[in-house]
Amino acid sequence: MHLADEAAAHAFGARIAAVLRAGDVVALSGPLGAGKTSIARGLLAALGLAGEAPSPSFAIVQPYDPPEIRMSVLHVDLYRIEHPDEARELGLDDALEDGALLVEWPERLGDDPWPEALWLSLAFDEAGGRRLTARVPDAWESRWPLT
Ligand SMILES: Nc1ncnc2c1ncn2[C@@H]1O[C@H](COP(=O)(O)OP(=O)(O)O)[C@@H](O)[C@H]1O
Ligand SMILES: [Mg+2]
Repeated sequence: MHLADEAAAHAFGARIAAVLRAGDVVALSGPLGAGKTSIARGLLAALGLAGEAPSPSFAIVQPYDPPEIRMSVLHVDLYRIEHPDEARELGLDDALEDGALLVEWPERLGDDPWPEALWLSLAFDEAGGRRLTARVPDAWESRWPLT
């Protein structure tokens, strides 16, 4: 899939939001500047968040809960995590009981930390936009392709 600009990234995030459920993990993989936070912002805005979501690169974990947003979401950026154990201490999986996880730099947790994650990989393309590839797990098969 091709995302031509930031607006396209926001729109794509909104399409994920439309089908997102508690227990879902959406992994956003790709180098710095690839557009991971942009997809997350589109998703969070579509869930009702007013204003622009901050990048969680310093906070590491940015939680959102009703009523500021339609369902609980943890927006996580593991860039600063140096060892998978540090990330495990965040207790991210606990959040899946009643919310969804949106994780930038998921590979900081090691190889395939969530086999059931919708795994989105972003790369720069020559035209200035981004290329997105998705690994769609069983849990997402009935929701894919997004409408
Ligand atoms: N699909 C896209 N095409 C072109 N530019 C984009 C796209 N998505 C995001 N950008 C721009 O790239 C920059 C970095 O985006 P960001 O979402 O912060 O990346 P990341 O979280 O992966 O580091 C921002 O200036 C943003 O506007
Ligand atoms: Mg980011």
